[in-house]
Amino acid sequence: MQFPIEDVRAQFPALSTTDSGVQRIYFDAPGGTQICGAAIDRISEHLKKGTANDGGVFQSSRDTQELVEAAHAAMADLLGGHPDEIAFGANMTTLTLSLSRALAQEWDAGDELVVTRLDHDANIAPWLLVARDKGMTVRWLDFDPAPGRLELDALPQLLGTKTRLVAGRP
Ligand SMILES: Cc1ncc(COP(=O)(O)O)c(C=O)c1O
Repeated sequence: MQFPIEDVRAQFPALSTTDSGVQRIYFDAPGGTQICGAAIDRISEHLKKGTANDGGVFQSSRDTQELVEAAHAAMADLLGGHPDEIAFGANMTTLTLSLSRALAQEWDAGDELVVTRLDHDANIAPWLLVARDKGMTVRWLDFDPAPGRLELDALPQLLGTKTRLVAGRP
């Protein structure tokens, strides 16, 4: 079966934007994720009806809670997990910062972290901050610029009994 790329593209209104008659091309994908029409409509519908903080005992709060739970369930279905394992946040950097602070409660001075020289700063800076604050040691995994890949063969030498986390995307 051929992947229906044109059908998928048609779901994203931003992909048909033109600038002075020229089709816009988005090269910096994570720097501005485009949203599909169904999500835009659902968010818009909710905001028009009236949003609220969740956890309240009034209708707009219940509606908000229901929508958030449905979004967690949909994302868990897409990624293959449980709704409780899904967290939404301001952006990836902020979520990683929160995660790093939560995990660091279990870590001590002298423990070790591995970060890579290939990852986006959003997956490096939060771990460096934790290491600084807790007195942990940071080990760096380098990359080979020619294929642009991490030197995974070097990873075992960076791991030890004090390693608490490897923050990297292979
Ligand atoms: C590859 C990559 N990862 C992570 C991020 C961080 O994403 P966010 O802006 O959601 O914090 C970016 C941002 O541009 C990125 O390009």
